[in-house]
Amino acid sequence: MSGPNTNYDPVEVAALEPAAVDAAVAHALRAIAAVSSLEGLKAARIAHQGEKSPLALANREIGALPPSAKAEAGKRVGQARGRVGQAIAARQAQLEAERDSRILVEERVDVTVPTLRRPLGARHPIELVAQRLADSFVGMGWEVAEGPELEAEWLNFDALNLGPDHPARQMQDTFFLDPVDSGLVLRTHTSPVQIRTMLEKEPPIYVVAPGKVFRTDELDATHTPVFHQIECLAIDAGLTMAHLRGAIDAFVQIMFGAGTRTRVRASYFPFTEPSMETDFVCFACHGAGSIDAGGSAVQCRTCGGSGWIELGGSGMVNRKVLRACGIDPEVYSGFAFGLGIERALMLRHGVQGMHEMVEGDVRFSQQFGMEV
Ligand code: DAH
Repeated sequence: MSGPNTNYDPVEVAALEPAAVDAAVAHALRAIAAVSSLEGLKAARIAHQGEKSPLALANREIGALPPSAKAEAGKRVGQARGRVGQAIAARQAQLEAERDSRILVEERVDVTVPTLRRPLGARHPIELVAQRLADSFVGMGWEVAEGPELEAEWLNFDALNLGPDHPARQMQDTFFLDPVDSGLVLRTHTSPVQIRTMLEKEPPIYVVAPGKVFRTDELDATHTPVFHQIECLAIDAGLTMAHLRGAIDAFVQIMFGAGTRTRVRASYFPFTEPSMETDFVCFACHGAGSIDAGGSAVQCRTCGGSGWIELGGSGMVNRKVLRACGIDPEVYSGFAFGLGIERALMLRHGVQGMHEMVEGDVRFSQQFGMEV
């Protein structure tokens, strides 16, 4: 038998009386039932379940009881706390459900209401592809060069070895500016940017120049008086046609996909010598010239059956042009190539006619997204 518990204080443990515990529970249950919000419940939880709540105090006093009384008091207080805890949890679930259904009503979105949001515009695929090509060349250490659209006739023709009587000068259907002796034209190609660059910079020169060009063509399925070209020029010691082929290969692979092969054919441009036309292997039939259509071979429509697509002109920069720009052809050599962006894009994406390219309908551009 243990001796009398000298720690036992009948006043202190009054909170453990069954009546006091019941009263605390009843009080708590009333308060929990009375709250009407989750914030209110939080306050009730602190008051009736928190560290300073009557039941928590009672629980702490169990320790002061003589061992014989501990079990019973512990059970009583434990059950009481359990009931309060359950009531809080039930009220919590109820209030949360009420809140959720209120939110569903209050925050309802009527998806059928006409929107005020305007669709975003889209960048034109010509811009996209020009930038992508330029970026790729910048990534290889080249620079982007620019020139004016209103160009000196001398830079557009003469400096490029297209003298006043050169037949090629008439071949490019030029917009001349009034008065005719102003010496200005709307540039017919991006090649004058080559001259501007060579006059401005010392070799080594590696530039890529995308831009608008103009010719007196009527707008039809394959022509437009305003179109875009991209021009590349490299001047360095020891550049050969092998470097030109390498640069063109890099170019077509960016534009038409990895592994796209190229070939060159002899051609003539006054500003390059030798001059070439470049073709790349058709991306639709991969050079076969025909496409399998359910077992039978039909002629490839993209390349017209040849297996190759014409890309543009290129060549080694004519020594006369180098000299006109103050570059010593005994020390430096260079290559250049240029092509029309519209044509390349139309081919790449099966665009049916030039009208679609120039009309500026945002729905056309949107199909290309931000990337091409
Ligand atoms: N400027 C030529 C044209 O518009 C294209 C061209 C041919 C550009 C040969 C070049 C080149 O850089 O080397 O028809």
